[in-house]
Amino acid sequence: MSELNKIALKIISNGKGILAADESNETMTKRLEAVNVPSTPENRLLFRETILSSESMKECIGGVILYDETIKQTTNFGKSIPDVIFSSGALPGIKVDTGAKNLANSSEEKITEGLDGLRERLKKYYKLGARFTKWRGVYCISDKYPSKLAIHSNAHALARYSALVQENNMVPIVEPEVLMDGDHTADHCLKKTSEVIKKCFDELILHKVDLSGIILKPNMILDGSSSEYKISGEEVSRKTIQCLQNSVPSEVPGIAFLSGGQSEIEATENLNLINKNNTTNFIMTYSYGRALQQSALKTWSKNNKDIKKTQIIFNHRVKMCSLAAKGKWSNELENK
Ligand code: 13P
Repeated sequence: MSELNKIALKIISNGKGILAADESNETMTKRLEAVNVPSTPENRLLFRETILSSESMKECIGGVILYDETIKQTTNFGKSIPDVIFSSGALPGIKVDTGAKNLANSSEEKITEGLDGLRERLKKYYKLGARFTKWRGVYCISDKYPSKLAIHSNAHALARYSALVQENNMVPIVEPEVLMDGDHTADHCLKKTSEVIKKCFDELILHKVDLSGIILKPNMILDGSSSEYKISGEEVSRKTIQCLQNSVPSEVPGIAFLSGGQSEIEATENLNLINKNNTTNFIMTYSYGRALQQSALKTWSKNNKDIKKTQIIFNHRVKMCSLAAKGKWSNELENK
C-alpha cells in the first residue's frame, strides 16, 4: 500500500468523510451576509473554530479542506487551525486552485486556474500541515455544454495539479463538478458527468498520477434545479452508481461527493441510498460544504457566544452524514 493510498483511506474509511470548509473569502462573505454577520477575518475564524472543536469531529470527520486564510490562523484558544484538526484525529487539507475564470473561445464556460507557482505553494502548505489538497473544475450543462473544449481543458488542469500534489506527498482531491443549474434531465446529467469523469481519468493516466492515491469528488446524478421533474432518491442512487461504475478505474480508493446545492436532508438521504445500493468496491462518502454547515451557521449567527448550541447542531448533521456513509441513516434517526 503506498503512503498516499494510506492517507486517502484514513480520510474516508469507516463512515468518515470530509468537511469542505474551504470557502474563499468572497464565498464566505456571501454565506455570512446571508445570515447578517459581517465578513471579517475574526468572524470567519470564530465560526470555523467553533465547528472544528465539536465532539463529532473525532468520530465522523477524516479531513477538513481549508482556505489559504484559515490554514494560517490561530484560534482564540491559542492552537493553530491545523493543530485543532490534527488533535481530533483528522487531517488538514487545502484548496489550491485560484478559482474558475472565463474560458477563452467559449466564454460562457469556465476554466480553473492556479497552476503557475503551484509547486512552490504546495511546499509551503505541506509545512503548514496540509496532507491533502483540492482543485475544483466546474462545468455548466445544457444542450451544447459542457463543450469538448471545457471537458478537455479542465481535465488537463486537474491532471497537472494532481501530479504536482503527489510529487509533494499529498493526496489530491479531483473535483469535476457538473453544476445543478438548469432544466436538464438526470439522464443528460448522467451522460455529461460520465464524459467529464472519463476525460479526467484519461488525463490523470497520461500524467502518470497514482490513482490509488487520489480521492474523486464528483456531483451526484440529479435533475437540473429548475427542471419540473424530480427523480426519486432511489433513482439518484442508481444513476450515480451507474455513472461511477462505468467511468472510474478500480484503483481509485474512494469517492467523496459534493453537496452542490442540495438541502442537508437531500444530500444525506441520497448518500444513504447510494451506500445501500452500492455494487462497486469504492468507498462512497461525503465532502460537503453547505450540507454540513448551513444549519450550524444559522444557529451560530443568532448567538456566537453560545458555542455549545452551534456544536449540537453541527454534531447532529455530521453524525447523520456519517450514518449515511454506512447506509445506516433513517428519517427516524434524523428526527430523534
Ligand atoms: P458544497 O458541498 O457546498 O457543494 O461544497 C463542496 C465543495 O467543496 C465545492 O467545491
